[in-house]
Amino acid sequence: MNVDVATLADLPGIMALEASFDKKWSEQSWRDEITGTGRLVLIARTTPRGQAQEPEIIGVACFQHVDEVVDLHRIVVAPEHRRLGFARVMLVAGLQWAIERGARRMLLEVDHRNEPAITLYRGYGFREITRRADYYGPGAHALILERALAGVDADSVGMWDMEAEDD
Ligand SMILES: CC(C)(COP(=O)(O)OP(=O)(O)OC[C@H]1O[C@@H](n2cnc3c(N)ncnc32)[C@H](O)[C@@H]1OP(=O)(O)O)[C@@H](O)C(=O)NCCC(=O)NCCS
Repeated sequence: MNVDVATLADLPGIMALEASFDKKWSEQSWRDEITGTGRLVLIARTTPRGQAQEPEIIGVACFQHVDEVVDLHRIVVAPEHRRLGFARVMLVAGLQWAIERGARRMLLEVDHRNEPAITLYRGYGFREITRRADYYGPGAHALILERALAGVDADSVGMWDMEAEDD
């Protein structure tokens, strides 16, 4: 498993990955994420960058830091590579980046029906702070989740889901 910071050279691979999803981001959106200020775009591959045959990108995640908040804008993994820990590795790397930049919290928005994503986020200490009713359509609510980062040691962030916190 390899996770790297994306460059513009990765745009074709990111767009090929996007082809698997109904809700796609445009190439311009990804270009803005990669080149924007205070952004982190991570790509996951099954084999290292720089091999003779360029490996495919099977996951991508992007974060934006503004003031004391880092927003997780998007995290996706190709359907055939799920439950192998790729999202976990990208999320932990994003949390560590946020802590190292001095952010005090991470925020994200997720469809309340998206059980895989919500389980992932809860495992890393995200908690619902509000919800927007019918945001995605009738009966499809958006949850706003927050993970507090103030005072958190970047090296400990990946251990969160092992703390077996129940509430
Ligand atoms: C959500 C998503 C990014 C997870 O990617 P992934 O690489 O499969 O996730 P991981 O393998 O790192 O899983 C980490 C943990 O998340 C939880 N999880 C992930 N997928 C799950 C599922 N289908 N059901 C329940 N829990 C799940 C589990 O706790 C898992 O740990 P475990 O495998 O040890 O039980 C992926 O399902 C995806 O791309 N979905 C479509 C896009 C999307 O919804 N993105 C989030 C938008 S807010």
